[in-house]
Amino acid sequence: MRHLLTLADLTAIEIERIFSISEDLKAKSAAGLREPLLPGRVMALLFEKPSLRTRASFEAAMAHLGGSAMFLGGDTGFGKGRESLADFGRVLSEYVDVIAIRANKHKTVAQVAEHSSCSVINGLTDFGHPCQALADLFTIRELVGKFEGHTVAWIGDANNVARCLAVGCGKLGLRLVMATPKKYQWNAGELAWIEKNSPALDLTVTEDPVEAVRDAVAIYTDIWASMGFEQEKEVRHKAFAAYQVNAKLMSHAQRGAFFMHCLPAHRGEEVTDEVLDGRQSVVVQQAANRMHAQKGLLAWLLGAQG
Ligand code: CP
Ligand code: NVA
Repeated sequence: MRHLLTLADLTAIEIERIFSISEDLKAKSAAGLREPLLPGRVMALLFEKPSLRTRASFEAAMAHLGGSAMFLGGDTGFGKGRESLADFGRVLSEYVDVIAIRANKHKTVAQVAEHSSCSVINGLTDFGHPCQALADLFTIRELVGKFEGHTVAWIGDANNVARCLAVGCGKLGLRLVMATPKKYQWNAGELAWIEKNSPALDLTVTEDPVEAVRDAVAIYTDIWASMGFEQEKEVRHKAFAAYQVNAKLMSHAQRGAFFMHCLPAHRGEEVTDEVLDGRQSVVVQQAANRMHAQKGLLAWLLGAQG
């Protein structure tokens, strides 16, 4: 039984295999073809936090693939202690073929996975966001072809999205430069986890956003106070004020560099309108690729494509 709790759960070869399925399905979809690779298969979706992209892209992906998705609300008792997570996972996995969960705590998804008889996908936790990393890496692959020799600059919080992206960069041969205020950089335990799961990662950590973007082909940022950290908003806004991705910062990047954001964005905070809506921005392509990358993931995970 394979689960996707972080990007550490996939090898480089598996990621490339998923991408080649995604690429094929994306091209067919653009030509109006919806290949029903998963007829009769059912996905369950559980969310403890809000979502547009993750929920809608999984529902659309399953419909395109000839299967279906059920969005399960609070009435199931999930996250409310109505029954143990073990019982929840044991029972739900009898009805469905795959479960995606967005949870406050990473442990919640891990516990359901441990007791499920079907695959469980992390749809974002405080620790990681592997589906986002898959879509981001797929987008970079579309834009630059080969990964090797390219640098991604991460500007801002060393958060859930950044953790999975870092592991993916190491697996696929992308260099990562992170500009993050000292207090919000990864601690020794987090660095050890990344090193263990992505030993080849070429990682530079700096406090200087200009240094980070200089050699980068992709400049990536995310909100300064992720879901669950809202109470730190004011203090984080002060700490991250110099880390806004604006036209001035983008002017230090190489010609052809593009701007990435997992969305939702807080315009005027971590990124200006000018950059988010500008010609270097690939955020809509990235968001669209959530669905295409997840189609590849679902087809591969459910064995419809080896
Ligand atoms: N990027 C992302 O996961 O978006 P949602 O929170 O809308 O799902
Ligand atoms: N880091 C953000 C990502 C949202 C998709 C959060 O966790 O809120």
